[in-house]
Amino acid sequence: MASRLWICTFVFILSLIAGTSASETEYTSASETEDSESKEFVLNLDHSNFHETVGKHDFIVVEFYAPWCGHCKKLAPEYEKAASVLSSHDPPVTLAKVDASDETNKGLAGEFEISGFPTIKILRNGGKHIQEYKGPRDAEGIVAYLKKQSGPASAEIKSTEDANALIDGKKIIVVGVFPEFSGEKFENFTALTEKLRSDYEFGHTLDAKLLPHGESSVTGPIVRLFKPFDELVVDFQDFNVDALVEFVEEASTPIVTLFNNDPSNQPFVIKFFNNPNAKAMLFLNFSSELADVFKSKCHDVAEQYKGKGLSFLMGDAEASQNAFQYFGLRDDQVPLIIIQTSDGEKYLKPNLEPDQISSWVKEYKEGNVLPYRKSEPIPEANDEPVKVIVADSLQDNVFNSGKNVLLEFYAPWCGHCKNLAPILDEVAVSLESDADVVIAKIDATANDVPIDIFDVKGYPTLYFRSASGNLLQYNGGRTKEDIIDFIQKNRDKSAQQEAGKDEQQEPGKDEL
Ligand SMILES: *[C@@H]1O[C@H](CO)[C@@H](O)[C@H](O)[C@H]1NC(C)=O
Ligand SMILES: *[C@@H]1O[C@H](CO)[C@@H](O)[C@H](O)[C@H]1NC(C)=O
Repeated sequence: MASRLWICTFVFILSLIAGTSASETEYTSASETEDSESKEFVLNLDHSNFHETVGKHDFIVVEFYAPWCGHCKKLAPEYEKAASVLSSHDPPVTLAKVDASDETNKGLAGEFEISGFPTIKILRNGGKHIQEYKGPRDAEGIVAYLKKQSGPASAEIKSTEDANALIDGKKIIVVGVFPEFSGEKFENFTALTEKLRSDYEFGHTLDAKLLPHGESSVTGPIVRLFKPFDELVVDFQDFNVDALVEFVEEASTPIVTLFNNDPSNQPFVIKFFNNPNAKAMLFLNFSSELADVFKSKCHDVAEQYKGKGLSFLMGDAEASQNAFQYFGLRDDQVPLIIIQTSDGEKYLKPNLEPDQISSWVKEYKEGNVLPYRKSEPIPEANDEPVKVIVADSLQDNVFNSGKNVLLEFYAPWCGHCKNLAPILDEVAVSLESDADVVIAKIDATANDVPIDIFDVKGYPTLYFRSASGNLLQYNGGRTKEDIIDFIQKNRDKSAQQEAGKDEQQEPGKDEL
């Protein structure tokens, strides 16, 4: 269940940070050319050999994939390249894959709770310990991550060089300082490192003087967390394992997450989007002279809402074009703040000034801000047979129109929608002379659709709303005749039409 959530969010984040992965793409093409002559290093497992193979390994990595999955296809050459590099690592690290969509492997997919593709797991001690793979998806990144994962969870720091190599000022690093590497506190620290090793890097030392920040006279036991933001270093002394886990999770979350082209921010951006909190995102030009005052004001407000269900991110507008598209934002609205709640409602304050952050967030919290919806501009000319509806015209042109409206929700890239378009055109032309019937379409990727009214799970989705407000989903055949038939059966007669019937039929009515 958690992993499905992760994949949905991940796809969203990927779309946000697409554009930062140019180097990754180059790497892909480079590795593909080398592929052809080499043998396969990734082990192919299935239900018949899975447990036997895994049982023989202290450390094995398994990708659960489906042959049709696009992300899996993209991963495949990277995964193979990583497998070839890691096969000569000492000791060798084995990478395997299972086609989890294959009927015969469904049992394995169930056992590992696979709900999305690709899902990668690290299995330790012959499969007794299962760990989620949370590393990168390019060959180089996979190799680096797995080298670390297959070694000890915590590295001993014996010199300032060791310390500087580990504590690079870019990642979260957790270091235990101990007078000796034994005792219950050291054991609990070790338990912490095993528990969180897929998310954080750990070190341990006998000498706090080797560490770059923090009180150097401490002898421990103490846990010191280094982070590239906020107060940079925090100490903690409760060695209860759960308390340690909670401390690390909390201390490693930035008060304000930064989003720009710097890849070292990426893990924090992913963490931000995985958090169930409502999300306040402030987009501005990071190079503008106001950036610093925005950062400091935003920081103050974020601090104020810490632990109150609202997380903050500041994004450089230049790196955020995909987010702008997703939320339907425009460059001339920058600086702006947008809040998205966990149930998908959005609130927007465009052309924001630094001093307005605090008061606007307060208004939002008090329920005094109206939700924002994404909309294309209302078209000036709407004279094609099929009328164009946008989020901002839905109310007037559908709900309050007093007409019988057939509305298609489509996506520009959807092939089935393209097939349906000429048919809807014919329907619209046939009914053009009927003033009480409207055939319309809305680009559901560019306009927010009220999800409490329309259930749009795929494209195209067709709804019919009669003049009196009766709402039906159309699931009939996709021919002109089927659609017209349905409209005529379910339409209401408007008052005008009722009155007109007593006198004389309008011309053109009869032929319908
Ligand atoms: C070690 O962790 C266990 C389990 O969380 C806890 O009961 C114990 O008190 C901890 N030991 C110390 C010295 O904090
Ligand atoms: C951001 O601000 C800098 C400095 O004021 C300016 O040179 C740059 O053009 C701005 N970028 C955008 C996209 O407005």
